[in-house]
Amino acid sequence: MVRICAKSVLWLSVVTGIVFALGGCKPASRPGASNSSGDIPVGVYLSFTGSTATFGESTFKGIQLATEEINAQGGINGRKIALHKEDDRSDAQEARSAVTKLIQRDGVVAVLGEVASSRSLAAAPICQENKIPMISPSSTNPQVTQVGDYIFRVCFIDPFQGAVMAKFAAETLKVKRVAVLTDVKNDYSVGLAKYFKETFTKLGGQIVAEKSYSEGDPDFRAQLTAIKAANPEAIFVPGYYSEVGTIARQARELGIRVPFLGGDGWDSPKLVEGAGNALEGSYFSNHYSHESTDPAVQRFVAKFKQRFNGEVPDALAALGYDAANILFDAIRRAGSTDPTKIRDALAQTKDFPGVTGRITIDADRNAVKPAVILQIRGKEFKYVQTIQP
Ligand code: PHE
Repeated sequence: MVRICAKSVLWLSVVTGIVFALGGCKPASRPGASNSSGDIPVGVYLSFTGSTATFGESTFKGIQLATEEINAQGGINGRKIALHKEDDRSDAQEARSAVTKLIQRDGVVAVLGEVASSRSLAAAPICQENKIPMISPSSTNPQVTQVGDYIFRVCFIDPFQGAVMAKFAAETLKVKRVAVLTDVKNDYSVGLAKYFKETFTKLGGQIVAEKSYSEGDPDFRAQLTAIKAANPEAIFVPGYYSEVGTIARQARELGIRVPFLGGDGWDSPKLVEGAGNALEGSYFSNHYSHESTDPAVQRFVAKFKQRFNGEVPDALAALGYDAANILFDAIRRAGSTDPTKIRDALAQTKDFPGVTGRITIDADRNAVKPAVILQIRGKEFKYVQTIQP
Protein backbone atom coordinates (compact mmCIF):
# COMPACT_ATOMS: atom_id res chain seq x y z
CA MET A 1 0.00 0.00 0.00
CA VAL A 2 2.69 2.45 1.09
CA ARG A 3 4.84 1.41 -1.85
CA ILE A 4 2.06 2.05 -4.35
CA CYS A 5 1.50 5.51 -2.84
CA ALA A 6 5.19 6.36 -3.06
CA LYS A 7 5.21 5.28 -6.70
CA SER A 8 2.19 7.46 -7.51
CA VAL A 9 3.79 10.41 -5.81
CA LEU A 10 6.94 9.87 -7.81
CA TRP A 11 4.93 9.53 -11.02
CA LEU A 12 2.91 12.60 -10.19
CA SER A 13 6.06 14.66 -9.63
CA VAL A 14 7.48 13.50 -12.97
CA VAL A 15 4.28 14.59 -14.72
CA THR A 16 4.29 17.88 -12.82
CA GLY A 17 7.93 18.41 -13.80
CA ILE A 18 7.07 17.95 -17.47
CA VAL A 19 4.11 20.33 -17.21
CA PHE A 20 6.35 22.96 -15.56
CA ALA A 21 9.05 22.48 -18.18
CA LEU A 22 6.51 22.99 -20.98
CA GLY A 23 5.07 25.97 -19.13
CA GLY A 24 8.54 27.52 -19.32
CA CYS A 25 7.97 28.24 -23.03
CA LYS A 26 4.81 30.22 -22.42
CA PRO A 27 4.86 34.02 -22.18
CA ALA A 28 3.67 34.10 -18.55
CA SER A 29 6.79 32.26 -17.37
CA ARG A 30 9.47 34.41 -18.98
CA PRO A 31 12.06 35.73 -16.54
CA GLY A 32 11.05 39.40 -16.56
CA ALA A 33 7.36 38.72 -16.55
CA SER A 34 7.36 36.38 -13.56
CA ASN A 35 10.08 37.92 -11.40
CA SER A 36 8.82 40.30 -8.79
CA SER A 37 12.27 41.47 -7.73
CA GLY A 38 15.47 42.53 -9.47
CA ASP A 39 15.72 44.89 -12.41
CA ILE A 40 12.82 45.34 -14.82
CA PRO A 41 13.98 44.29 -18.31
CA VAL A 42 12.82 46.68 -21.05
CA GLY A 43 13.64 46.06 -24.73
CA VAL A 44 14.71 48.68 -27.26
CA TYR A 45 15.00 47.92 -30.98
CA LEU A 46 16.22 50.67 -33.28
CA SER A 47 18.40 51.45 -36.30
CA PHE A 48 21.79 52.09 -34.69
CA THR A 49 23.52 51.45 -38.02
CA GLY A 50 22.49 51.43 -41.69
CA SER A 51 20.80 54.04 -43.88
CA THR A 52 18.88 55.81 -41.08
CA ALA A 53 21.30 55.40 -38.17
CA THR A 54 20.65 58.87 -36.74
CA PHE A 55 17.01 57.83 -36.08
CA GLY A 56 18.19 55.07 -33.72
CA GLU A 57 21.04 57.03 -32.16
CA SER A 58 18.89 60.07 -31.32
CA THR A 59 15.94 58.03 -30.07
CA PHE A 60 18.16 55.94 -27.83
CA LYS A 61 19.69 58.99 -26.20
CA GLY A 62 16.20 60.16 -25.22
CA ILE A 63 15.36 56.71 -23.82
CA GLN A 64 18.68 56.58 -21.98
CA LEU A 65 18.15 59.99 -20.36
CA ALA A 66 14.66 59.01 -19.15
CA THR A 67 15.99 55.70 -17.79
CA GLU A 68 18.92 57.28 -15.97
CA GLU A 69 16.55 59.79 -14.40
CA ILE A 70 14.10 57.18 -13.12
CA ASN A 71 16.87 54.92 -11.84
CA ALA A 72 18.51 57.84 -10.02
CA GLN A 73 15.18 58.27 -8.20
CA GLY A 74 15.31 54.63 -7.09
CA GLY A 75 13.49 53.06 -10.04
CA ILE A 76 9.83 52.03 -10.17
CA ASN A 77 8.21 50.55 -7.07
CA GLY A 78 11.73 49.89 -5.77
CA ARG A 79 13.06 48.22 -8.93
CA LYS A 80 15.52 49.68 -11.45
CA ILE A 81 14.99 49.63 -15.22
CA ALA A 82 17.48 47.54 -17.22
CA LEU A 83 17.55 48.42 -20.92
CA HIS A 84 18.27 45.66 -23.44
CA LYS A 85 19.00 47.06 -26.90
CA GLU A 86 19.14 45.48 -30.35
CA ASP A 87 20.29 47.06 -33.61
CA ASP A 88 18.07 46.24 -36.60
CA ARG A 89 20.54 47.89 -39.00
CA SER A 90 17.73 49.92 -40.66
CA ASP A 91 16.21 46.69 -42.00
CA ALA A 92 12.64 45.36 -41.55
CA GLN A 93 13.63 41.67 -41.42
CA GLU A 94 16.28 42.46 -38.83
CA ALA A 95 13.63 44.30 -36.80
CA ARG A 96 11.69 41.03 -36.56
CA SER A 97 14.67 39.09 -35.27
CA ALA A 98 15.60 41.92 -32.92
CA VAL A 99 12.26 41.84 -31.07
CA THR A 100 12.25 38.03 -31.08
CA LYS A 101 15.60 38.04 -29.27
CA LEU A 102 14.46 40.69 -26.80
CA ILE A 103 11.33 38.74 -25.94
CA GLN A 104 12.64 35.15 -25.96
CA ARG A 105 16.22 35.61 -24.77
CA ASP A 106 16.00 38.67 -22.52
CA GLY A 107 12.45 38.24 -21.23
CA VAL A 108 11.61 41.92 -21.62
CA VAL A 109 8.26 43.08 -20.20
CA ALA A 110 7.77 45.74 -22.90
CA VAL A 111 9.46 46.95 -26.07
CA LEU A 112 10.32 50.50 -27.25
CA GLY A 113 10.71 50.95 -31.04
CA GLU A 114 10.83 51.46 -33.98
CA VAL A 115 11.05 54.83 -35.70
CA ALA A 116 10.44 53.83 -39.34
CA SER A 117 6.86 52.67 -39.90
CA SER A 118 7.92 49.80 -42.19
CA ARG A 119 10.10 48.38 -39.42
CA SER A 120 7.43 48.85 -36.73
CA LEU A 121 4.97 47.10 -39.04
CA ALA A 122 7.37 44.17 -39.46
CA ALA A 123 8.06 43.70 -35.74
CA ALA A 124 4.65 44.55 -34.20
CA PRO A 125 3.01 41.17 -35.02
CA ILE A 126 5.70 39.40 -32.97
CA CYS A 127 5.03 41.62 -29.95
CA GLN A 128 1.29 41.13 -30.40
CA GLU A 129 1.56 37.30 -30.64
CA ASN A 130 3.70 37.21 -27.50
CA LYS A 131 1.44 39.68 -25.68
CA ILE A 132 4.33 42.05 -25.00
CA PRO A 133 3.39 45.74 -25.22
CA MET A 134 5.26 47.70 -27.89
CA ILE A 135 5.44 51.50 -27.91
CA SER A 136 6.64 53.20 -31.07
CA PRO A 137 8.02 56.64 -30.25
CA SER A 138 7.63 57.99 -33.78
CA SER A 139 6.10 55.66 -36.41
CA THR A 140 3.30 57.70 -37.94
CA ASN A 141 1.69 55.32 -40.47
CA PRO A 142 -1.87 54.58 -39.25
CA GLN A 143 -1.53 50.81 -39.79
CA VAL A 144 1.14 50.37 -37.10
CA THR A 145 -1.22 50.35 -34.09
CA GLN A 146 -3.88 48.47 -36.07
CA VAL A 147 -1.72 45.34 -35.72
CA GLY A 148 -3.32 44.71 -32.33
CA ASP A 149 -4.18 45.79 -28.81
CA TYR A 150 -0.58 45.52 -27.51
CA ILE A 151 0.75 48.09 -30.00
CA PHE A 152 0.90 51.78 -29.01
CA ARG A 153 2.52 55.02 -30.17
CA VAL A 154 3.16 58.39 -28.54
CA CYS A 155 3.13 60.48 -31.75
CA PHE A 156 0.46 61.78 -34.14
CA ILE A 157 -0.42 59.87 -37.32
CA ASP A 158 0.01 60.68 -41.02
CA PRO A 159 -3.57 61.56 -42.03
CA PHE A 160 -3.01 64.56 -39.71
CA GLN A 161 0.61 65.21 -40.73
CA GLY A 162 -0.31 65.10 -44.45
CA ALA A 163 -3.15 67.55 -43.91
CA VAL A 164 -0.85 69.89 -41.94
CA MET A 165 1.63 70.26 -44.79
CA ALA A 166 -1.09 70.44 -47.47
CA LYS A 167 -2.79 73.30 -45.59
CA PHE A 168 0.51 75.08 -45.08
CA ALA A 169 1.27 74.82 -48.80
CA ALA A 170 -2.19 75.98 -49.89
CA GLU A 171 -2.95 78.61 -47.24
CA THR A 172 0.38 79.98 -46.02
CA LEU A 173 2.66 79.55 -49.06
CA LYS A 174 -0.37 79.98 -51.35
CA VAL A 175 0.93 77.56 -53.96
CA LYS A 176 -1.50 75.91 -56.37
CA ARG A 177 0.74 73.49 -58.29
CA VAL A 178 2.73 70.86 -56.40
CA ALA A 179 4.75 67.82 -57.56
CA VAL A 180 5.06 64.75 -55.30
CA LEU A 181 8.07 62.41 -55.18
CA THR A 182 7.45 59.24 -53.14
CA ASP A 183 9.70 56.43 -51.83
CA VAL A 184 7.65 53.40 -52.90
CA LYS A 185 9.59 51.00 -50.65
CA ASN A 186 8.59 52.94 -47.55
CA ASP A 187 5.10 52.58 -45.99
CA TYR A 188 5.43 55.95 -44.29
CA SER A 189 6.29 57.72 -47.56
CA VAL A 190 3.47 56.10 -49.55
CA GLY A 191 0.90 56.91 -46.83
CA LEU A 192 2.02 60.49 -46.25
CA ALA A 193 2.01 61.21 -50.02
CA LYS A 194 -1.57 59.97 -50.23
CA TYR A 195 -2.82 62.02 -47.26
CA PHE A 196 -1.06 65.15 -48.52
CA LYS A 197 -2.65 64.78 -51.97
CA GLU A 198 -6.13 64.25 -50.51
CA THR A 199 -6.09 67.48 -48.52
CA PHE A 200 -4.19 69.56 -51.07
CA THR A 201 -6.63 68.76 -53.88
CA LYS A 202 -9.58 69.29 -51.53
CA LEU A 203 -8.23 72.79 -50.88
CA GLY A 204 -8.25 73.49 -54.63
CA GLY A 205 -4.59 72.66 -55.32
CA GLN A 206 -3.34 70.59 -58.23
CA ILE A 207 -0.81 67.72 -58.21
CA VAL A 208 1.05 68.41 -61.46
CA ALA A 209 3.46 65.44 -61.33
CA GLU A 210 3.73 62.23 -59.32
CA LYS A 211 7.05 60.38 -59.41
CA SER A 212 8.65 57.67 -57.30
CA TYR A 213 12.00 56.27 -56.19
CA SER A 214 13.23 53.45 -53.97
CA GLU A 215 15.26 53.81 -50.78
CA GLY A 216 18.96 53.56 -51.59
CA ASP A 217 18.67 54.94 -55.15
CA PRO A 218 21.62 57.24 -55.97
CA ASP A 219 20.20 59.03 -59.02
CA PHE A 220 16.90 60.93 -59.18
CA ARG A 221 17.56 62.98 -62.33
CA ALA A 222 15.00 61.25 -64.56
CA GLN A 223 12.16 61.88 -62.08
CA LEU A 224 13.35 65.44 -61.43
CA THR A 225 13.56 66.23 -65.14
CA ALA A 226 9.92 65.15 -65.55
CA ILE A 227 8.95 67.19 -62.47
CA LYS A 228 10.72 70.26 -63.84
CA ALA A 229 8.76 69.96 -67.11
CA ALA A 230 5.47 70.01 -65.14
CA ASN A 231 6.45 73.42 -63.72
CA PRO A 232 5.41 73.03 -60.04
CA GLU A 233 5.58 75.81 -57.43
CA ALA A 234 6.79 73.38 -54.75
CA ILE A 235 7.89 69.72 -54.53
CA PHE A 236 6.63 67.46 -51.72
CA VAL A 237 9.12 64.70 -50.82
CA PRO A 238 7.83 62.58 -47.91
CA GLY A 239 11.04 60.54 -47.58
CA TYR A 240 13.93 60.04 -45.15
CA TYR A 241 16.94 62.33 -44.76
CA SER A 242 19.08 59.59 -46.30
CA GLU A 243 17.77 60.40 -49.81
CA VAL A 244 16.20 63.86 -49.48
CA GLY A 245 19.56 65.67 -49.40
CA THR A 246 20.70 64.06 -52.65
CA ILE A 247 17.33 64.67 -54.31
CA ALA A 248 17.51 68.38 -53.46
CA ARG A 249 21.11 68.74 -54.67
CA GLN A 250 20.35 67.04 -57.99
CA ALA A 251 17.24 69.22 -58.41
CA ARG A 252 19.30 72.41 -58.03
CA GLU A 253 21.85 71.09 -60.55
CA LEU A 254 18.97 70.67 -62.99
CA GLY A 255 17.94 74.29 -62.44
CA ILE A 256 14.88 73.63 -60.26
CA ARG A 257 14.49 76.64 -57.94
CA VAL A 258 11.20 76.01 -56.10
CA PRO A 259 11.12 75.04 -52.40
CA PHE A 260 10.89 71.48 -51.18
CA LEU A 261 8.31 70.39 -48.62
CA GLY A 262 8.56 67.30 -46.42
CA GLY A 263 7.56 65.49 -43.24
CA ASP A 264 9.16 64.30 -40.02
CA GLY A 265 11.40 61.86 -41.94
CA TRP A 266 13.66 64.79 -42.82
CA ASP A 267 14.67 65.27 -39.19
CA SER A 268 18.34 64.43 -38.83
CA PRO A 269 21.58 66.25 -38.10
CA LYS A 270 22.74 64.65 -41.38
CA LEU A 271 20.05 66.28 -43.58
CA VAL A 272 21.90 69.49 -44.30
CA GLU A 273 25.20 67.63 -44.54
CA GLY A 274 23.73 65.70 -47.51
CA ALA A 275 21.91 68.66 -49.04
CA GLY A 276 24.53 71.40 -48.80
CA ASN A 277 22.52 74.60 -49.31
CA ALA A 278 20.00 72.92 -51.66
CA LEU A 279 17.26 72.88 -49.01
CA GLU A 280 17.74 76.49 -47.89
CA GLY A 281 14.27 77.96 -47.23
CA SER A 282 12.45 74.62 -47.57
CA TYR A 283 9.88 73.46 -44.99
CA PHE A 284 8.98 70.25 -43.17
CA SER A 285 6.48 69.20 -40.51
CA ASN A 286 7.70 67.71 -37.25
CA HIS A 287 6.75 66.68 -33.70
CA TYR A 288 8.59 69.30 -31.70
CA SER A 289 10.91 72.28 -31.87
CA HIS A 290 13.81 72.70 -29.46
CA GLU A 291 13.17 76.46 -29.76
CA SER A 292 9.83 76.15 -27.95
CA THR A 293 9.57 78.47 -24.93
CA ASP A 294 7.61 75.85 -22.96
CA PRO A 295 9.53 75.43 -19.67
CA ALA A 296 9.20 71.62 -19.88
CA VAL A 297 10.89 71.66 -23.31
CA GLN A 298 13.62 74.00 -22.12
CA ARG A 299 14.30 71.81 -19.05
CA PHE A 300 14.57 68.76 -21.31
CA VAL A 301 16.88 70.53 -23.79
CA ALA A 302 19.16 71.67 -20.95
CA LYS A 303 19.35 68.21 -19.36
CA PHE A 304 19.98 66.57 -22.73
CA LYS A 305 22.77 68.99 -23.63
CA GLN A 306 24.41 68.44 -20.29
CA ARG A 307 24.24 64.65 -20.64
CA PHE A 308 25.33 64.48 -24.31
CA ASN A 309 28.15 66.98 -24.82
CA GLY A 310 26.06 69.99 -25.76
CA GLU A 311 24.05 68.15 -28.42
CA VAL A 312 20.64 69.71 -29.17
CA PRO A 313 17.92 67.03 -29.00
CA ASP A 314 15.97 66.49 -32.25
CA ALA A 315 12.34 65.28 -32.37
CA LEU A 316 13.46 61.66 -32.27
CA ALA A 317 15.27 62.18 -28.98
CA ALA A 318 12.25 64.03 -27.56
CA LEU A 319 9.85 61.26 -28.63
CA GLY A 320 12.20 58.55 -27.29
CA TYR A 321 12.21 60.38 -23.95
CA ASP A 322 8.41 60.63 -23.95
CA ALA A 323 7.88 56.98 -24.99
CA ALA A 324 10.14 55.73 -22.19
CA ASN A 325 8.50 57.96 -19.58
CA ILE A 326 5.02 56.88 -20.66
CA LEU A 327 6.07 53.25 -20.27
CA PHE A 328 7.57 53.89 -16.82
CA ASP A 329 4.42 55.71 -15.75
CA ALA A 330 2.31 52.74 -16.92
CA ILE A 331 4.48 50.21 -15.05
CA ARG A 332 4.15 52.35 -11.91
CA ARG A 333 0.37 52.61 -12.24
CA ALA A 334 0.06 48.89 -13.05
CA GLY A 335 1.90 48.13 -9.80
CA SER A 336 3.21 45.09 -11.64
CA THR A 337 5.59 44.05 -14.42
CA ASP A 338 3.04 41.66 -15.89
CA PRO A 339 2.97 42.66 -19.60
CA THR A 340 -0.82 42.44 -19.80
CA LYS A 341 -1.24 44.71 -16.78
CA ILE A 342 1.29 47.14 -18.33
CA ARG A 343 -0.74 47.04 -21.54
CA ASP A 344 -3.93 47.89 -19.66
CA ALA A 345 -2.24 50.78 -17.86
CA LEU A 346 -0.79 52.13 -21.13
CA ALA A 347 -4.28 52.16 -22.64
CA GLN A 348 -5.40 54.37 -19.73
CA THR A 349 -2.69 57.02 -20.29
CA LYS A 350 -4.31 60.43 -19.98
CA ASP A 351 -2.89 63.97 -20.16
CA PHE A 352 0.68 62.82 -19.63
CA PRO A 353 2.92 65.93 -19.73
CA GLY A 354 5.44 65.00 -22.44
CA VAL A 355 8.09 67.26 -23.95
CA THR A 356 6.33 66.78 -27.31
CA GLY A 357 2.98 67.85 -25.86
CA ARG A 358 0.25 66.41 -23.61
CA ILE A 359 -0.24 62.75 -24.43
CA THR A 360 -3.54 60.93 -24.15
CA ILE A 361 -3.72 57.44 -25.66
CA ASP A 362 -6.97 57.17 -27.63
CA ALA A 363 -9.12 54.09 -28.35
CA ASP A 364 -6.90 53.23 -31.35
CA ARG A 365 -3.75 53.41 -29.15
CA ASN A 366 -2.54 56.57 -30.88
CA ALA A 367 -1.70 59.99 -29.43
CA VAL A 368 -3.51 63.10 -30.58
CA LYS A 369 -1.03 65.97 -30.57
CA PRO A 370 -0.09 69.19 -32.36
CA ALA A 371 2.52 69.36 -35.15
CA VAL A 372 5.08 72.07 -35.88
CA ILE A 373 6.36 73.43 -39.19
CA LEU A 374 10.10 74.12 -39.39
CA GLN A 375 12.10 75.98 -42.03
CA ILE A 376 15.66 75.14 -43.00
CA ARG A 377 17.93 78.15 -42.64
CA GLY A 378 21.65 77.55 -42.76
CA LYS A 379 22.30 74.46 -40.68
CA GLU A 380 19.28 75.11 -38.48
CA PHE A 381 15.64 74.09 -38.39
CA LYS A 382 13.80 77.28 -37.43
CA TYR A 383 10.37 77.17 -35.81
CA VAL A 384 7.61 78.61 -38.04
CA GLN A 385 4.27 77.61 -36.53
CA THR A 386 2.29 75.07 -34.49
CA ILE A 387 -0.80 73.36 -35.87
CA GLN A 388 -3.34 71.93 -33.42
CA PRO A 389 -5.16 68.69 -34.31
N1 PHE B 1 7.33 59.07 -38.93
C1 PHE B 1 8.37 58.33 -39.61
C2 PHE B 1 7.80 56.97 -40.01
O1 PHE B 1 6.76 56.60 -39.61
C3 PHE B 1 9.59 58.15 -38.75
C4 PHE B 1 10.21 59.41 -38.21
C5 PHE B 1 9.67 60.08 -37.11
C6 PHE B 1 11.36 59.95 -38.76
C7 PHE B 1 10.24 61.27 -36.59
C8 PHE B 1 11.93 61.09 -38.27
C9 PHE B 1 11.35 61.79 -37.18
O2 PHE B 1 8.40 56.23 -40.73
